[in-house]
Amino acid sequence: MIPARDGQFDTDLLRQAFGCFPSGVTAFCGMIDGAPEGMAASSFTSVSLAPALVSVCVAKTSSTWPRLARLNRLGLSVLASEHGTVARSLASKNGDRFCGVDWTSADSGSVFVHGATLWLDCSVYNVVEAGDHDIVLLAIEALAMYPDVAPMVFHRSRFRDLTPMAA
Ligand SMILES: Cc1cc2nc3c(=O)[nH]c(=O)nc-3n(C[C@H](O)[C@H](O)[C@H](O)COP(=O)(O)O)c2cc1C
Repeated sequence: MIPARDGQFDTDLLRQAFGCFPSGVTAFCGMIDGAPEGMAASSFTSVSLAPALVSVCVAKTSSTWPRLARLNRLGLSVLASEHGTVARSLASKNGDRFCGVDWTSADSGSVFVHGATLWLDCSVYNVVEAGDHDIVLLAIEALAMYPDVAPMVFHRSRFRDLTPMAA
């Protein structure tokens, strides 16, 4: 085992360790001044059935989250296996993140990515500070699901497909 030193690890080592856990990738998006804004987030987790809650962890360094935080509604799209370019674009530092992204806005103002396997129309329920991230708890106000769409898998910094296990 590699021990923590004063409760800390080398950041690259910890990133590598966290990357052993496979996750999906979501697009966390809203409408600001008539234009879509958002970010890719792989930290999505389901939290509670009643009330219906999910969470996303956002880095305190994020410039997008403080802008999204002011909105009444936010869209979460669980990206599909074909969305590699979309995920990269929604994480880019420069340029129009939505260029080449097929998106739509709901009446609520939430922004969703076409072709996703799940859309959650959310409002912010609570924000919990956790180290260098905020845990954003989101209440699900409405949803649309497309279970036959294959999800994207993010593992060890790479986008992958789900492959059924051999029986
Ligand atoms: C696959 C993937 C998953 C990501 N997941 C998260 C995440 O869960 N939380 C987060 O704060 N940033 C995450 N990011 C980084 C953001 O998408 C974005 O690059 C970052 O917030 C910097 O941009 P900003 O300053 O506009 O927020 C992820 C990026 C990629 C490519």
